[in-house]
Amino acid sequence: MLDKVVLAYSGGLDTSVAIRWLKQQYNLDVIALNIDVGNERDFSAIRQKAIDVGAVKALVKDAKETFVNHFIFPALQADVIYEGQYPLATALSRPLMAKLLVDVAKEEGASAVAHGCTGKGNDQVRFEVSINALSPNLRIIAPAREWGMTREETISYAQHYGIPVPVTASSPYSIDENLWGRSIECGVLEDPWVEPPEEVFTWTKSPSEAPDKPGYVEIGFDRGIPVTIDGRELNGVSLIQRLNELAGNYGVGRIDHIEDRLVGIKSREIYEAPAAIVLLQAHQALEAMTLSRAQLRFQQKVAAEYADLIYNGLWFTSLRQDLAAYVNSSQRFVTGTVRLKLFRGSCRVVGRKSPFSLYNYGLATYDKGDEFDQSASPGFIHIWGLPVRTQAQAQDISSLEEKER
Ligand code: ARG
Repeated sequence: MLDKVVLAYSGGLDTSVAIRWLKQQYNLDVIALNIDVGNERDFSAIRQKAIDVGAVKALVKDAKETFVNHFIFPALQADVIYEGQYPLATALSRPLMAKLLVDVAKEEGASAVAHGCTGKGNDQVRFEVSINALSPNLRIIAPAREWGMTREETISYAQHYGIPVPVTASSPYSIDENLWGRSIECGVLEDPWVEPPEEVFTWTKSPSEAPDKPGYVEIGFDRGIPVTIDGRELNGVSLIQRLNELAGNYGVGRIDHIEDRLVGIKSREIYEAPAAIVLLQAHQALEAMTLSRAQLRFQQKVAAEYADLIYNGLWFTSLRQDLAAYVNSSQRFVTGTVRLKLFRGSCRVVGRKSPFSLYNYGLATYDKGDEFDQSASPGFIHIWGLPVRTQAQAQDISSLEEKER
């Protein structure tokens, strides 16, 4: 009996070629593992294809619920957005896939796991650091990093061995998608001056073709987790799917990002993330109303740290657990409803309410019912300005010019 390898199998060209290649190069039996994280596909066709191409076994795991509850929602609660732009859809899915690869390798008695990443990207790092963390002695093989074939060579390899070349292989774009977003790179997108052609977008309408009247949506949160749309309760998976459709129809969710990869290169990435954009905005709006100024400021630091950590493949670390514990605690009053207006590519918060709101009408109003004691302000200003006055008397601070010393 041959040794076995569990391959993270997408059904695309590279991982199909990898099945054959692993057998040929390493003499391993390949178990193809397709992981459903909300990338809509025909899973029975994928399974059949893996077998046709030479896998000894083909498994499909529905990981949508785990992905939402253990990866997407914690990230949403933490407001993570990499470099102010990218909600981290691809990055969040990798540690989950690594975990499933390790689990299946154990179940199947495989001595190795494999993934289809190249040697230039972040995903190889995320997969391998996570796999090593979960199972330090498991062997990892990265065919697409080792075989040194160009895209054309991969296609002719496939043709030579009768591996079907999907139509998508003729598309110049490299695409990864899951519930939290769609990542698109390569082709003309590699010229950062070129506007992304309309054809790269499939989840979002062009804003110029979106409805000419605005739409409204209300998201209900319970402790930082979205639980309702327009008052109707939905499970996490359906809620995200529904919002992707709804906001995508209004042209919301397109992102054009020059991003800093962990391996040191800048790359141009286009994203479609309608649900992520809406939920992150709504969640932040609710936090603005229910967290103190000090909590909000600290939250920004946590969010930046957490986003880098996820991007950089460090999900399975103690620091991640510690940050998550803080975030979880910070969410205990982030309950309420946010109203957003969607219109031709834009998404704006137009209303928010919470039973734990720190917004106090009596304190804020300029109308009748004002409870703020304005007579206390001079004393406050006197003390607040004390160090400013002290310094102004001792040092010249009046000039508008920046002086050299
Ligand atoms: N640049 C993104 C990341 O590192 C997405 C990579 C996804 N790959 C793709 N084929 N577009 O998370």
